[in-house]
Amino acid sequence: MKVDVLLGLQWGDEGKGKVVDVLTPNYDVITRFQGGPNAGHTLEFDGQKYVLRSIPSGIFQGGKINIIGNGVVLDPLLFKIEAESLAESGHDLTKQLYISKKAHLILPTHRILDAAYEAAKGDAKIGTTGKGIGPTYTDKISRNGLRVGDLLHNFNEKYAKAKARHEAILQSLNYDYDIAELEKQWFDAIEYLKQFHLIDSEHVINGYLKSGKSVLAEGAQGTLLDIDFGSYPFVTSSNTVCAGACTGLGVAPNRIGNVYGIFKAYCTRVGSGPFPTELSDETGEKIRAIGHEFGAVTGRSRRCGWIDLVALKYAIMVDGVTHLIMMKSDVLDTFETIKACVAYKINGEETRQFPFEIGDDIEPVYVELPGWQCDMTGIQSETEFPKAFSDYIAFLEKELEVPIKIVSVGPDREQTIVRHIEK
Ligand code: GDP
Ligand code: IMO
Ligand code: MG
Repeated sequence: MKVDVLLGLQWGDEGKGKVVDVLTPNYDVITRFQGGPNAGHTLEFDGQKYVLRSIPSGIFQGGKINIIGNGVVLDPLLFKIEAESLAESGHDLTKQLYISKKAHLILPTHRILDAAYEAAKGDAKIGTTGKGIGPTYTDKISRNGLRVGDLLHNFNEKYAKAKARHEAILQSLNYDYDIAELEKQWFDAIEYLKQFHLIDSEHVINGYLKSGKSVLAEGAQGTLLDIDFGSYPFVTSSNTVCAGACTGLGVAPNRIGNVYGIFKAYCTRVGSGPFPTELSDETGEKIRAIGHEFGAVTGRSRRCGWIDLVALKYAIMVDGVTHLIMMKSDVLDTFETIKACVAYKINGEETRQFPFEIGDDIEPVYVELPGWQCDMTGIQSETEFPKAFSDYIAFLEKELEVPIKIVSVGPDREQTIVRHIEK
């Protein structure tokens, strides 16, 4: 069997959690392969809303195995808060959720370092989620990290060494902090974590594939936040692209099957960094208001703009997307016209190639299309699509050269339309 991968193609928050939940009945195993609690994946069904941060979005559909893979960075305290809140709402995960021993641990001092580095950058700050993601991946790459498997042997000694190193850096930055209470809660959370299956996930996942089980890998963030291919340095610290699923799970490239690329019918970004199609006017405000574009975890206001097909094509290329999924189509229901950026004008020259640097000198070249101006939130099948919406889909498919397989018209699980198109 192969691993299918679902990836955000923009700057995150495309609706990955919702679609993973919808696709879960087709799979035996759901995995996360990168990122950590910087993610906020929202699911809505039966009138309830859940936001997941470290736990895969496959936990609500009938006892499927969910795995936090080796490429993830895990904060035991935030994990405990998340798992306990799910247990309170009747979802006991201890049997269904496995955690890789090779996943790296976010220590309390990683969170402080994240804040200290951001403060030191001043106006050039990334606008991180403040969860210690960058410092934890930095320690991983510089071979100083602590892993979940380390909890099982001589942990206190390893922890003390890492903490001392972090404290020396914080001192050099003259950064004031107090982690006593946080540290106490963090150590309680470690004991909590130990009741879960801590596994050699690469063996387990490959064993599943060999025995014919199907696996879905759930991406976090989005391709434009990838450490290599995103809008560097305004990116996250992991490989959010498809290849990240190979390293973040221990599966070989020839084991990758379908690649689902998910995007909004428009575009958003949270945090600093370039955004060529950003709308700093009332149109942007309107998208934000109708789309409730505020961070799932931080509550930060998301920047909004038109869809950017130059960036999307780039993401599709780098990820090898086989199927597209368009989200939040309903948010554009009331617009008279809709714009799509098909090229960038840089120094007077038009290009369709995503450039090395997305500078302020980029001028988006737009195509304007008629809006459908009707309520799509109750639509159940593609036969009910208004003509202008079908035309919008046909336009996107022609530009992007990949079929749009699923269309989402509202936040609820039920507001999802699977199109009957050939693969
Ligand atoms: P993720 O990080 O990719 O899982 O996405 P988030 O959960 O951060 O953000 C997506 C937001 O859009 C959530 O509030 C979802 O409930 C909501 N959402 C998802 N799909 C749709 C849709 O088709 N229409 C509308 N209006 N909202 C949606
Ligand atoms: P999901 O999985 C949107 C952004 C932050 C910041 C940059 C670096 O919900 O789509 P980090 O804390 O990772 O060091 O922050 O990345 N960012 C996200 N933006 N959705 C996310 O996750 C994000 N995770 C990180 O806002 O600009
Ligand atoms: Mg999110």
